[in-house]
Amino acid sequence: MNFNFTEEQEMIRQAARDYAERELIKDVLERDEKAEYPTQHIKNLSELGFLGMLVDPKYDGGGMDTVSYVLAMEEICKIDSSVGVIISVNNSLVCYGIENYGTEEQKEKYLKPLARGEKIGAFLLSEPEAGSDATHQRTTAEDKGDHYLLNGTKNWITNANSGSIYIVVAQTHPEKKHKGINVFIVEKDSPGISLGQHEDKMGMRSSDTHSVMFTDVKVPKENRIGEDGFGFKFAMKTLEGGRIGIASQALGIASGAFERSVNYAKERKAFGTELANHQAIAFKISDMAVKIEAARNFCLKAAWLKDQGKPFGVASAMAKQYAADIAMEVTTDAVQIHGGYGYVKEYHVERLMREAKLTQIYEGTSEIQKIVISRSILKG
Ligand code: CAA
Repeated sequence: MNFNFTEEQEMIRQAARDYAERELIKDVLERDEKAEYPTQHIKNLSELGFLGMLVDPKYDGGGMDTVSYVLAMEEICKIDSSVGVIISVNNSLVCYGIENYGTEEQKEKYLKPLARGEKIGAFLLSEPEAGSDATHQRTTAEDKGDHYLLNGTKNWITNANSGSIYIVVAQTHPEKKHKGINVFIVEKDSPGISLGQHEDKMGMRSSDTHSVMFTDVKVPKENRIGEDGFGFKFAMKTLEGGRIGIASQALGIASGAFERSVNYAKERKAFGTELANHQAIAFKISDMAVKIEAARNFCLKAAWLKDQGKPFGVASAMAKQYAADIAMEVTTDAVQIHGGYGYVKEYHVERLMREAKLTQIYEGTSEIQKIVISRSILKG
């Protein structure tokens, strides 16, 4: 087993860290306050190659491996996980799905601009009545011969407004249940698409989240991905990779809160000495470090399996569940270590705590990850 990163992996990590520490930090609090989309940062990070970092260079991507992706996501999310989720959805849900299951024409037309970051993608699976219970899709895609007609509503869609290319999951043959589900590439400016209001979220406030309504939206047949009925498997396979992205995001949130707590504990004095000299604080720091190291190893293992072409679905579920849960614990401890200062915005840790909560919910709640993990153990 080799725990060393390659020179290229280190360079990617450093580039992400430099951008986060130099640029994202400047306005992260203001964007959180105003729930303002990070337009210029996404443009800059596209130019640096992060929006399509996992895509093969022949489709204009960065050709980087998943281990590098974990390292980059951790660095970016230490400072700004709203930017992190935009990168993650574009890379692991949208680009990955088209690259692995799309036709050459779809890759040419849609993957290339997404990989260059000129266009941003969104993944539309969740519905008002089908979040965790993803097989029960109410959105319909009626087969009309040369096109499909989409009707229904999707909920909690990251990049719904900033994105222009949608991956939409919908039911074509209700009698076949999940085997009747299809998935389509849909251009956001198609007639019949409208957006709900911008969701006023607790955390990750500068990424945009909306519901999306489809009313008789015509989708050309050639925009279906895969065979008729492949949509649910597509969603599940794609989410396996997406969960590595969100696990790394949770890892970054925890690491960011940890670094701030260590610095604070060394500087702040109480009872005549630095906080770090009080065992109550030192042990918290130790517990945080152990959890973060374990989460990092989970993320890197899942990424390594994916890069080796080995099955990684259970590893990514373990990484997501563990990293998200410890992100919540670590950020809660970070606020506690900071005391009153932790409860005000200037010190960042309250924001990180709000952000950590979402990692336990989206791309499969912690409970859904336990379903995936336990079924893999108990089946057969
Ligand atoms: N790979 C391939 N196929 C898979 C699979 C996988 N990882 N997981 C399930 N399947 C297949 C099963 O084999 C089965 O197919 P067959 O009938 O042909 O055997 C089919 O899918 C149905 O599976 P289940 O019977 O296990 O279905 P279920 O209803 O019991 O549970 C679930 C499935 C794992 C709970 C699934 O519904 C799930 O993952 N739910 C969570 C959905 C989710 O993560 N949503 C996140 C939204 S996206 C988001 O948040 C993006 C964003 O904007 C940030």
